[in-house]
Amino acid sequence: MNDQIVLITGAANGIGRASAHAFHGKGAQVVVTDMDEEGARAVAREMGERALAYRLDVTDRRSIEAAFAAAEAAMGPVSILHANAGVSNLKRAVDLDEEDWDFNFNVNAKGVFLTNQTAVRHFQKHKIAGAIVNTASLAAKVGAPFLAHYSASKFAVLGWTQALAREVAPQGIRVNAVCPGFVQTAMQDRELIWEAELTGSTPEAVRQSYIDQTPLGRLETPEDVADVVVFLASDAARFMTGQGVNVTGGVYMT
Ligand SMILES: NC(=O)c1ccc[n+]([C@@H]2O[C@H](COP(=O)([O-])OP(=O)(O)OC[C@H]3O[C@@H](n4cnc5c(N)ncnc54)[C@H](O)[C@@H]3O)[C@@H](O)[C@H]2O)c1
Repeated sequence: MNDQIVLITGAANGIGRASAHAFHGKGAQVVVTDMDEEGARAVAREMGERALAYRLDVTDRRSIEAAFAAAEAAMGPVSILHANAGVSNLKRAVDLDEEDWDFNFNVNAKGVFLTNQTAVRHFQKHKIAGAIVNTASLAAKVGAPFLAHYSASKFAVLGWTQALAREVAPQGIRVNAVCPGFVQTAMQDRELIWEAELTGSTPEAVRQSYIDQTPLGRLETPEDVADVVVFLASDAARFMTGQGVNVTGGVYMT
């Protein structure tokens, strides 16, 4: 990864932060972005050299283009995008309102569209056979209760990933996705509380139910996901494109 410049969205926390560290550990220059600018700066400081931080809101095309341009001016053209930023909230499908739907689709689906399109234009301008990895979800493969809107937005990520992969393959650009399972992050902490409220359970019991559903017998770590992201972006995955790779500890197997 020594000659790669990697831009990661939603990298102030969780999976994105682990991805930044994983790419950096393999020698890449890392562009840590998040709508939480101070959080992104803190992650860049954890790495020291070969890391920059910018505010990037994945729902705002201008902020995406500005971050790509700033990174290029400081380091050179971006060659890998990890489009990772995502949000969730839990509700029964019958109780969802349009705000819930728009919140999930704007960040999870439109955010992937806008960041991927900016990256492809950037790769084409610089004649780079770049790589894109999108963070989808287990919920992109199988509908999850209380997450109908989130599931729909993550199924959209896989549809986009496949279609874009076919279009840009002739230019050597690869587009893949990871589908994580039950990952220990701030997002999961929020979901445990919501699910416990919706089911009359406790966050601890819900957490145990996640472990019980996982053949490998533990919660997933952000690093479990990040290592697969680095693989998919690397030359070791040079003949993989349009894939949604499950990283779930066996929760979902097809
Ligand atoms: N945690 C899980 O169990 C799990 C499982 C499957 C998929 N995922 C997906 O993994 C990705 C990362 O999730 P996480 O668990 O690390 O969540 P997290 O909440 O810990 O981190 C998400 C980051 O995204 C940022 N963000 C939110 N909206 C943004 C926007 N509009 N623009 C830019 N940044 C924005 C947040 O500030 C935060 O730093 C998401 O796409 C999520 O859907 C998570």
